[in-house]
Amino acid sequence: MAEDPIARFRLDDRVALVTGASSGIGRSMVSALAGAGARVVMTARRVERLEELAGTLPGSVALRCDVTDDSDLEALVTGTMERFGRIDILVNNAGITEVTPAETEPADLFRSVVAVNLTAPFLLTKLVAGPMLEAGRGSIVNIVSVLGLRGVGQIPQAGYAASKGGLVNLTRELAAQWARRGIRVNAIAPAWFPTEMTDEMFADEGARRWIRRRTPMGRPGELDELDGALLFLASDASTYVTGQILAVDGGWTAV
Ligand SMILES: NC(=O)c1ccc[n+]([C@@H]2O[C@H](COP(=O)([O-])OP(=O)(O)OC[C@H]3O[C@@H](n4cnc5c(N)ncnc54)[C@H](OP(=O)(O)O)[C@@H]3O)[C@@H](O)[C@H]2O)c1
Repeated sequence: MAEDPIARFRLDDRVALVTGASSGIGRSMVSALAGAGARVVMTARRVERLEELAGTLPGSVALRCDVTDDSDLEALVTGTMERFGRIDILVNNAGITEVTPAETEPADLFRSVVAVNLTAPFLLTKLVAGPMLEAGRGSIVNIVSVLGLRGVGQIPQAGYAASKGGLVNLTRELAAQWARRGIRVNAIAPAWFPTEMTDEMFADEGARRWIRRRTPMGRPGELDELDGALLFLASDASTYVTGQILAVDGGWTAV
């Protein structure tokens, strides 16, 4: 009998590290990875939220980490290796933004957005690449944004757009550097999903109407609509895919 093609999406025995797991997309992705069989190391600053989630997922753990703190990043990778001895999947998901017109966007805001959304994924990826290169395998999934692929303007956030655009091309460059050494690096570019990051936007009827009008599918995304892209890129279902940016956007970038 032919092998079950769905088996390639399974993550049994894999260890996945997810940043920004205390809310929104990260929290939802932890559940998807664990549901596919992975043991998940979930991280963020609000550790009490992580512990509550970890309590529902046997084999998974919560570790506190501020991704802008280099020693926290090192402790996160060391702690994961001590506990599990391997890291198969890294999801760089932690992110921040603030909507402000560029002409008044404070320098410190721009710098802090780049620190969380671009510098931290690079530094954490570097740390995780050590054990992944040694093992000769690994899948890294960066959570970017349609704002890293297009200018939007109406919801002004220059630091965010720049950081996500940077992460888009960092994805491609790292994919190219490591393609022959077993590490694949890809990204998911969501459009609009209801989370803490977007709660003000979703509370505003004008903004909701704008999303419906501007999105070819006429609606925002549901969090579990990111699961398929994540499991594809994280698993052996995508062993010949690297350096790609998969938009999950209801057609936003198709027009
Ligand atoms: N929602 C959308 O429509 C949308 C669209 C495109 C892309 N995205 C991207 O998706 C990712 C997740 O966003 P979300 O919408 O789920 O937002 P969210 O609910 O606000 O979650 C952001 C996560 O990042 C963590 N985080 C922020 N700063 C951190 C820091 N210094 N150290 C460690 N963790 C930090 C937060 O945890 P703590 O506060 O507990 O540390 C939280 O878990 C982000 O990269 C975002 O840019 C979202």
